[in-house]
Amino acid sequence: LNKVFAIANQKGGVGKTTTAVNLAVGLTERRREVLLIDLDPQANTTSGLVPDTSIRASWVEAGCTTYEAIIGQMELRQVIRAVARSLFLAPAGANLVGAEIELVSIAEREKRLQAALAPICAQYDYILIDTPPSLGLLTLNALVAANSVIVPIQCEYYALEGLSALLRTISQVRDTLNPKLTVRGILLTMFDSRNRLSHEVAGEIRRHFPNQVFHSVIPRNVRISESPSHGLSVLEYESKSAGAQSYRALAAELDQGDSSSPDVQAIQSNVPLGSHELPKSESEKS
Ligand SMILES: Nc1ncnc2c1ncn2[C@@H]1O[C@H](COP(=O)(O)OP(=O)(O)O)[C@@H](O)[C@H]1O
Ligand SMILES: [Mg+2]
Repeated sequence: LNKVFAIANQKGGVGKTTTAVNLAVGLTERRREVLLIDLDPQANTTSGLVPDTSIRASWVEAGCTTYEAIIGQMELRQVIRAVARSLFLAPAGANLVGAEIELVSIAEREKRLQAALAPICAQYDYILIDTPPSLGLLTLNALVAANSVIVPIQCEYYALEGLSALLRTISQVRDTLNPKLTVRGILLTMFDSRNRLSHEVAGEIRRHFPNQVFHSVIPRNVRISESPSHGLSVLEYESKSAGAQSYRALAAELDQGDSSSPDVQAIQSNVPLGSHELPKSESEKS
């Protein structure tokens, strides 16, 4: 059953955290029980859902964050908080950055999250893991624990930069630690319909990765960027906005999902050879 999704792309600012939070809430609107795991030391998923600094600090002080869960000082179930109806959060704090180093000397270091999740997996319909902007041990733990990867890509220049390194890492994880890992799909984010470049980039990505891109496209939408400061998903903050509707559509696409996930190698073989970026486009000339 495809239910544990890592949201990964080692580029920062492509919409991983935004997707983790809003997809999670989109799934709860569909009466699913969702666990969101914040595996990024920047902890933006956590602060976006729990804006109260003192509450977050108290979790760190009490040692109830994903850091302790992954290091093995705490059971994962002990750090999970109910943050909304049907929505549960394993919060991160800045201390998580230490895990990246400490894990190196811990046995089965890539399997810590997988092991932590195993006893509680069955309690949730979906588990979404937000990852840091790197391909280090935290992201590796997410890829080993997951059934499937969602790759947000920003509709911008250099959209595909770094994508082959990510796909190579996914392939290696599949060959070794997690044979069933698939790429569920590429998600086009921050699409600006008035910008020709956005259309060109989206078109190029769909050409390179036929059938591997989610139909749902996330528009660039100011409501999406405003919502975290209110401690809300965009679906709650501005329910009728284009941003909210796009994440609702994504949740439906995932949830109704045709279960066939595209093969990693099929995706990998489509990365344009010798370049990690898209061909120069018309609009660059203008
Ligand atoms: N569709 C969107 N429209 C407008 N702003 C967005 C959108 N998606 C993300 N953002 C903003 O872009 C920034 C980076 O997004 P984020 O989800 O934090 O990326 P990542 O987790 O990949 O680093 C954030 O300030 C976020 O609010
Ligand atoms: Mg993030």
